[in-house]
Amino acid sequence: MVDAKTTRPAVLFVCLGNICRSPMAEGAFRQMADKVVLPVTVASAGTADYHVDSPPDPRAIATASAHGVDISSLRGRQLERSDFHDFTHIFALDNANMEGIRARAPGHGTARVSLLLDALDGAKGEPVVDPYHGDEAGFEACWETISEAVDALVARFQRDGVDARF
Ligand code: 4NP
Repeated sequence: MVDAKTTRPAVLFVCLGNICRSPMAEGAFRQMADKVVLPVTVASAGTADYHVDSPPDPRAIATASAHGVDISSLRGRQLERSDFHDFTHIFALDNANMEGIRARAPGHGTARVSLLLDALDGAKGEPVVDPYHGDEAGFEACWETISEAVDALVARFQRDGVDARF
């Protein structure tokens, strides 16, 4: 039997706190997928539990809003073992979180885990730098990088569907 999970990509973005980078990635990805009418599931999580149930950082909300995306209703949650089954693709925002994701992966997980910027030509192996301790300009720069990367992701999912490899 073919179910939704095998026919549509289910994408999880993972950073450390799930209040800055990954909620922005979730919002930017949803906006682009909606624009091209790509059926996807999208969510975000943190490897840490510091901000469980918290809304995104106000600077992340303001930056997304300036780009026409409302992420204010998102709430922080920590990466769970079930995510490795519930999502087809998990994207780490940086290498430390990639390690954190791999450390939590159950042996029988089915999700493909990649670094987000591996999807972006010329940026393979690079992190999306954590803007949390910086200023608003850092959030804008972060949005721009994320935005380019999620545009590339959406294009790949349009081409390859759920079988896309990054
Ligand atoms: P994020 O940023 O991983 O992009 O959500 C951070 C948010 C909070 C903290 C660190 C990074 N923190 O240490 O509380």
